Amino acid sequence: MARLFFALWPDRPAREALAAHGKRIAESAGGRAVPTANLHLTLVFLGEVEPSRVASLHRAADEVEADRFGIDLDEIGCFPHAGVAWAGFRDPPPALLGLQAALADRLALQGLDRETRPFAPHLTLVRRIGAPVERQAIRPVAWPARAFSLVESNRHRGGYTTVAEWSLRERES
Ligand code: 2AM
Repeated sequence: MARLFFALWPDRPAREALAAHGKRIAESAGGRAVPTANLHLTLVFLGEVEPSRVASLHRAADEVEADRFGIDLDEIGCFPHAGVAWAGFRDPPPALLGLQAALADRLALQGLDRETRPFAPHLTLVRRIGAPVERQAIRPVAWPARAFSLVESNRHRGGYTTVAEWSLRERES
């Protein structure tokens, strides 16, 4: 079985800016900064998916209709219980919430979304922090969200593999 999730992947300049925040946080609060190539914003975590269900995952994503939008991560903070420091939003963009809800709804219709907690948009920068990271504003790290991806988490080798990608619609002006 594959361990899968849907995510948005920052472009290279945004990943590099985020990696610099992660490095700085890990130096002051301890923990392991997420490697630059692995930085992502999870939309829906699926966990272990039976191979027979993967086609329905693709169908659910095919049905999502959402426009491109801009991501602007403008604060950092932490989830103390999970031991992670993140980059997040003072006000999450409605288009991000809309995309996530559309995807989660489609997955739920296929019986695939098992998450019961509300969506808390964040991008993990550091794992296993040794001390809390105070919530604070940062100079926004921005990138254009043009597509979302289905990603496999490689438990043994570490890292992630993109399984498929769906383009967001170009907004008509
Ligand atoms: P995190 O960054 O806050 O840990 C791949 O593991 C992605 O799915 C991560 O971004 C992770 O979020 C997210 N995720 C959400 N729920 C998860 C869970 N129960 N176990 C592992 N990862 C989870």
